[in-house]
Amino acid sequence: MIARLFNAPLGETETAMGVGTVGSSEAIMLAGLAFKRNWQNKRKAEGKPYDKPNIVTGANVQVCWEKFARYFEVELKEVKLSEGYYVMDPDKAAEMVDENTICVAAILGSTLNGEFEDVKRLNDLLVKKNEETGWNTPIHVDAASGGFIAPFIYPELEWDFRLPLVKSINVSGHKYGLVYAGIGWVVWRTQQDLPDELIFHINYLGADQPTFTLNFSKGSSQIIAQYYQLIRLGFEKQEKREMKKNKKHYDMLQFVCDAQHGIPSSCPCGGFIIIEVSTNPADKDWLPGQRYFTCSAYKNDGLHFRQPWVNGVEEEVCRLKSEVAKMAVEIAHLKDLITRN
Ligand SMILES: Cc1ncc(COP(=O)(O)O)c(C=O)c1O
Repeated sequence: MIARLFNAPLGETETAMGVGTVGSSEAIMLAGLAFKRNWQNKRKAEGKPYDKPNIVTGANVQVCWEKFARYFEVELKEVKLSEGYYVMDPDKAAEMVDENTICVAAILGSTLNGEFEDVKRLNDLLVKKNEETGWNTPIHVDAASGGFIAPFIYPELEWDFRLPLVKSINVSGHKYGLVYAGIGWVVWRTQQDLPDELIFHINYLGADQPTFTLNFSKGSSQIIAQYYQLIRLGFEKQEKREMKKNKKHYDMLQFVCDAQHGIPSSCPCGGFIIIEVSTNPADKDWLPGQRYFTCSAYKNDGLHFRQPWVNGVEEEVCRLKSEVAKMAVEIAHLKDLITRN
């Protein structure tokens, strides 16, 4: 669900690659490890040294990135901030990238001021640099504070897996409330972006359990609460779809109300309303339009109008018909008087 929210290129039935973590800090350790291992494997295959990995970030990164760098022995190369510009400058970041860079980490929702870094520009600059150098430097997006905001409020903003170099994204579930503290997520673009050698396959409970986390035992309450919130609050598109459906029903209600004041001329579907009442007693009670006033394209799907001819309406129609007949007699009589003179 989260991978699709971040536009991972997944087929309908394909399973996403990701893991629930203890906040974004653990998520970032895991994502960083995957980048480091991928980079090392590539360097080994090329017969090049792989002992000096570095990572490029803005100086505004949260302390977990410094922890990752120190704990897992990766040099942290920080793009300095400048007066009035408190996030990572993508141009400077791309310049700092070298052959030992395992990834560039961009932040969606800087810890200092909440600002989104320009991931799209960073992606475009690195695509160009990768073409020139063959280094294939990827991007990680630290969406701890923005991952569950941007897809809903700024769906057009390209910061996620729509950008080809974005290989992994983390988000802190607990930063948005309504879940228990201590839940985070990391998702990878594809299975290839998480080296299989980092995944442990255990079988303590009788079935294969793949695990890639720093800890082992953990309560499920956080995952259940997060899942509940995601399906309860929904994705905007889904909500819009639901609203459309609701609107159709509201429109229908409007027609039903109008029908109290007279027969509507058209159905909400655009079809016309049949108002003739059949004089054939055999038609009664089953054909639309004979005992009902009904949409000409009536289907029993809740979206077409159909209202029974209530007795009162039928009586009123009979009364009006007999009045018209009486008037016709009177008119004929008057005509007769006028023409006789
Ligand atoms: C941008 C960013 N990344 C990572 C983290 C760490 O997140 P967590 O507290 O979920 O481990 C934070 C927390 O403030 C953050 O703002």
